[in-house]
Amino acid sequence: MMQGAVTVLGIETSCDETAAAVVRLENGRAEVLSEHVASQTEEHALYGGVVPEIAARAHVERLDSLVRMAMDDAGVGWSGLSGVAATAGPGLIGGVMAGLSTAKAISLARGLPLIAVNHLEGHALSPRLGDAVPFPYLLLLVSGGHCQFVWVEDVGRYQRLGSTIDDAAGEAFDKTAKLLGLPGQGGPAVEREALSGHASEVDLPRPLLDRPGLDMSFSGLKTAVRRAAEERPLTAQRRADISASFQNAVSDILAKKSARAMELVADRSEHHTFVVAGGVAANSALRARLEAEARRTGFHFFAPPLRWCTDNGAMIALAGAERLRLGLIDGLDTPARARWPLDEASATAAPIYGGGKKGAKA
Ligand code: KG4
Ligand code: ZN
Repeated sequence: MMQGAVTVLGIETSCDETAAAVVRLENGRAEVLSEHVASQTEEHALYGGVVPEIAARAHVERLDSLVRMAMDDAGVGWSGLSGVAATAGPGLIGGVMAGLSTAKAISLARGLPLIAVNHLEGHALSPRLGDAVPFPYLLLLVSGGHCQFVWVEDVGRYQRLGSTIDDAAGEAFDKTAKLLGLPGQGGPAVEREALSGHASEVDLPRPLLDRPGLDMSFSGLKTAVRRAAEERPLTAQRRADISASFQNAVSDILAKKSARAMELVADRSEHHTFVVAGGVAANSALRARLEAEARRTGFHFFAPPLRWCTDNGAMIALAGAERLRLGLIDGLDTPARARWPLDEASATAAPIYGGGKKGAKA
């Protein structure tokens, strides 16, 4: 256990964002000293999805300058760091290797401890970057590659309570955007379109909503969106209506399952805290629904600011700092992992049957 302040450089390269940040952790409070993110949206736009080889190369090209900028802005110097952290999985393996190797090189050259961070742990702890969110809490982790309810007991202690059995919610946003021919990143594009649409205009299913338990499903919703998109000419209004109806269906599913999850954990702790994290948590309509649900159930609600919802280096630096403080460091032989469940015990006992995922934002 490390006493006093811990300052960590964090590197994130699991999908199509290259990011580096320096975070200082003291008495349980995090301070982001610097952060930089470079997105690869343009590189992949032509292909309608993230191309792993292009992503890996782009990470390699940008890592040096991003790390330098993060270090310059933090102003603590290499000697001011307590450790260096990088995402070691899950994600697109080439990208993960690029970031992890960079962290290993820094660790070796500067004599700093290495912390290999699970990307999902980064998201799970991200609400603590801005607010003093106490452990334990209920987490809805909703991103491009993942959609799950997790009981966050403490740093390194996670229990998966339920998850999607097929697509992640962010994936459904991305596919909807593609079906509607919307440019740019899927989630934000659908959210923008939805502003001028009617949410009750297109009848879409809410799979598994009436089933007990916390598992979710989004692939039927995607099929229904495809049908709606093909059924009639895609006018601007039709696009907006489908976007609004889709966003509403996803929000319904996540809100209802969240309410059930809160009921399930209500007697586990007196804190009654519900947090949402991950890229889809950037969606304002969804945040409002979840917040209302939390209020109704008597839970405190936290969601990170938008820049810490989508992939970023600060959450990796924070996870690294929290782990380092507990003495959890890793060897230079730590491998990059394409798959890496946050709760290994539940994942082994009841694997998610969707399968076939190639990593984050598959
Ligand atoms: O956390 P993240 O950056 O990467 C993963 O770890 O997967 O999440 C990216 C996902 C993408 O699917 C993206 O479309 C979605 O988050 N997303 C959104 C919004 N912003 C990003 N989905 C809905 N509404 C948004 N505003
Ligand atoms: Zn992510």
